[in-house]
Amino acid sequence: MEVIRSIAELRAWRRQAGKVAFVPTMGNLHEGHLALVQEARRRADKVVVSIFVNRLQFGQGEDFDAYPRTFDADCAKLRDAGVDVLFFPLEQELYPRIRQDFNVEPPHIQNELCGAFRPGHFRGVATVVTKLFNIVQPDLACFGKKDYQQLHVIKAMVDDLNQPIEIVPVDTGRAEDGLALSSRNGYLSADERAEAPRLYGHLAVISERLMAGEQDYASLEAAARQDLEAHGWRVDYVEVRQADTLEIAHAGEKRLVVLAAARLGKTRLIDNVEVLR
Ligand code: PAF
Repeated sequence: MEVIRSIAELRAWRRQAGKVAFVPTMGNLHEGHLALVQEARRRADKVVVSIFVNRLQFGQGEDFDAYPRTFDADCAKLRDAGVDVLFFPLEQELYPRIRQDFNVEPPHIQNELCGAFRPGHFRGVATVVTKLFNIVQPDLACFGKKDYQQLHVIKAMVDDLNQPIEIVPVDTGRAEDGLALSSRNGYLSADERAEAPRLYGHLAVISERLMAGEQDYASLEAAARQDLEAHGWRVDYVEVRQADTLEIAHAGEKRLVVLAAARLGKTRLIDNVEVLR
């Protein structure tokens, strides 16, 4: 595996590579990321993974400084997974003027769900992903469904801006007790880790009820919220939305997704389950 730190070198490599699949990450890699790499390998001649902790997508008081930087362990995992190139730029390589004058502005959905609690987050994601797409120029890129709203924003961006890249969604990896794999799980204490699967438990129950024909989304959402709060969670949202647009779901909708974000101690966890009837 080649580790490339400069944009110029990455571009030179890309010119002689064939079909390229790309997996953008912020490092601190787990099995969920490796599933993205596996999918990427299945679909292309060469796989590029990037590790870049993108300041633009972190709000004030969020964990940018504390975000785990685990380069050596990440490198070993990517080498074992058969990655061809790791793009690992310094911050000044991607943001030489610190500020980014031009940004990619997602539509109103960026201010809903997670966006309502993380102002500017999806602008930061869309901007860095566009920059990375422009640098790597992949044929396709893999994104996890765990970050469902992010996946939605990226798909819409690629469509609207005619970015010639196929976006490949990959199912959420889960621990045996259901907890979605996430870099932030490492922040949980032992007690919090034992409690954490409750979030997915509620999504699974809501999904079963929806499959059984329940149409009263608000009471499903409220019951989950109440139980989580009774167990010490601070809930940002539990919502049933339209799977394809993430707009508010109305009774009778066939393609739904249940999304939730909640804090356990200092750790904010997100998860979702699609309900496609
Ligand atoms: O999902 C992530 O890890 C990040 O949001 C991404 C897509 C690498 C952009 O920084």
